[in-house]
Formats: sequence, structure tokens, C-alpha cells
Amino acid sequence: FVTPTEMGKDGSILAKDINGNLIPASQILVEPPGTRALVAGLAAEPTYLTVQSDGTLHTWGIVDNCTHLGCTFPWNPNDNQFQCPCHGSRYDADGRVIRGPAPLPLKIVSVNLEEEYIRISPWTEIDPRTGQKPWWV
Ligand code: FES
Repeated sequence: FVTPTEMGKDGSILAKDINGNLIPASQILVEPPGTRALVAGLAAEPTYLTVQSDGTLHTWGIVDNCTHLGCTFPWNPNDNQFQCPCHGSRYDADGRVIRGPAPLPLKIVSVNLEEEYIRISPWTEIDPRTGQKPWWV
């Protein structure tokens, strides 16, 4: 077995844990549906991956970087929201702003399985939440 190339031509990377070790998808997919698993994504930015009800990973990941002033924030499974502790912004499960001061939806990245690893790539298509070009492109 050969580990897939870590860095892709499109700027993609394989998801790692906090210690810089590659994370096999199976390690995340044993978690129950609705789990938000934090991994090191593009530029090592902490990124939430979602386990879906069918036991697969959601095709986009959500970058853990508040669009107000850049704080990191936890997922609150009881409220089904990301809640920023810095100034109270709240985002829905897909990263749309529910309450400011955050001005923009959370940045998303593309998530694909490669062998048993998770490839994270820049999201450059239309933002499925807004129907617009992504604000970060
Ligand atoms: Fe998140 Fe201000 S940085 S609300």
C-alpha cells in the first residue's frame, strides 16, 4: 500500500490530526451521524468534517475560522449550531450566519476520499449555500 501524495497540484492536502499524522477516514466514520470531527485542513487550518446519516463524510468541510475576527469556535450539538465564543456569532449546521456580528458564511472546502485518506481541496465552485461565487475566491 502506498500513501497517496500528500500535496495535490490543485493545492489540496490530506487531512491530518493535531500531531500532523494522516487521519484515515475510518477513524472519523466510526463516530455517530452528526459528528463534527476537527482535522487540520488546508494551510493547517482547523476544519470540521461532518459524518452524515448514511455513514459517509459530507462533501464539504467547514473551516473553523469565524468570519468576524477569526476566532475558532465549537460545534454545539444541542443547538445544532457553531457558536463563536468571542462575540457571539452563530452559524447553522452548514455554516450560514444565524446571528452576527459575523458578516459572511463560514468558508467551506471540498472533501473527497482517496484510498483510505481524506483529501481536502479549495472550494472554488458556486457556494451551494448562497448560489453565488464564494467570497473567498
Ligand atoms: Fe467570532 Fe467575533 S470572532 S464573533
